Amino acid sequence: MILSIESSCDDSSIAITQIQTSKLLFHAKISQESTHSAYGGVVPEIASRLHAQALPQILSKAKAFLGGDFGCLKAIGVTTQPGLNITLIEGLMMAKALSFSLNIPLISVNHLKGHIFSLFINQKKTCFPLSVLLVSGGHTLIIEAKSASKMSIVASSMDDSFGESFDKVAKMLSLGYPGGPIIEKYAQKYASDYPNTPAMVFPLPLKHFPYLGFSFSGLKNAVRLAILKAQENRENTTTEAFIAKISAGFQQTACEHLKKNIQKYLQNKIDQQEPVKNFCIVGGASANLYLREQISGLCASFDCHLLVAPLEFCSDNAAMIGRAALEKYHQNDFADIFSLQASPRSTEDEFLC
Ligand code: KG4
Ligand code: ZN
Repeated sequence: MILSIESSCDDSSIAITQIQTSKLLFHAKISQESTHSAYGGVVPEIASRLHAQALPQILSKAKAFLGGDFGCLKAIGVTTQPGLNITLIEGLMMAKALSFSLNIPLISVNHLKGHIFSLFINQKKTCFPLSVLLVSGGHTLIIEAKSASKMSIVASSMDDSFGESFDKVAKMLSLGYPGGPIIEKYAQKYASDYPNTPAMVFPLPLKHFPYLGFSFSGLKNAVRLAILKAQENRENTTTEAFIAKISAGFQQTACEHLKKNIQKYLQNKIDQQEPVKNFCIVGGASANLYLREQISGLCASFDCHLLVAPLEFCSDNAAMIGRAALEKYHQNDFADIFSLQASPRSTEDEFLC
């Protein structure tokens, strides 16, 4: 069995994965969302302190699950990058202590690759090559994964990430953190309350940009200006109806921007005679059902199979880290306990150029 640890942002999580079957045997997570909600975003120092409390609590549950004995563990997997340095260190120190005291190897896992492996939790087989849309609080990327270990980034955001833009719009409307699920709920409400009224219109980001690329800061600013304008016109901007109208328009435009890029990407691949057979959406924001629906329709029109993770494994969790670690375990790809460090960004060797 492999024990895996995730602490890259505001979720403390530990999982145990069976090596032979890839089965997830144990998984527990303590989320800090309610604490950070008051600040409208994650406060790294608070997050780090909360990991220091939560991780040992979860570890003792994992030990109890194993009958009080870690003897059956064959390796420790841990998220080392990218993320908040002071929270990554909390998980890494626990992983090093376990690896050292149990005398078992340590496996370093890149968090973004971990999200890709959320597709294969409880599954022995993986499915590569795979083209990936990764949408989280820190990243908006198109990744080409040729195999479990050979991956390259083909498009990224020039400014804010997709998930972050939901968080910022939610903050402008004083809705709390994380903004994604809240904004999605209001947008759903707008669609059911006003089925025949189009959502508020916002300009589509990078409309005439000929290459692949994402940008969400202009859209965020357009939402800010729309709220200001409504306030100047003495409209009540705290009503459910107003929040729903803004949320629906913002979500539609943000998803349309992703969709336009994916369309361009899939068409480019056809033009290069390398049509994409398997496409996936992963990351915390891949839980957005409107986004799934939009990309699903697009993939169908390109005759491409869409993979998504179960909703419970979209946001940060240690089960995906364990599944990614398993792949490295089979390759004997272990880290050196003395030199392994946490890194806020992905190190150069993680993704091919
Ligand atoms: O992957 P994740 O759990 O953490 C990071 O690695 O960043 O992603 C969290 C992000 C947050 O920005 C959150 O607002 C966003 O994912 N998110 C969503 C939804 N659920 C979570 N964004 C849009 N729609 C959702 N339903
Ligand atoms: Zn994540």
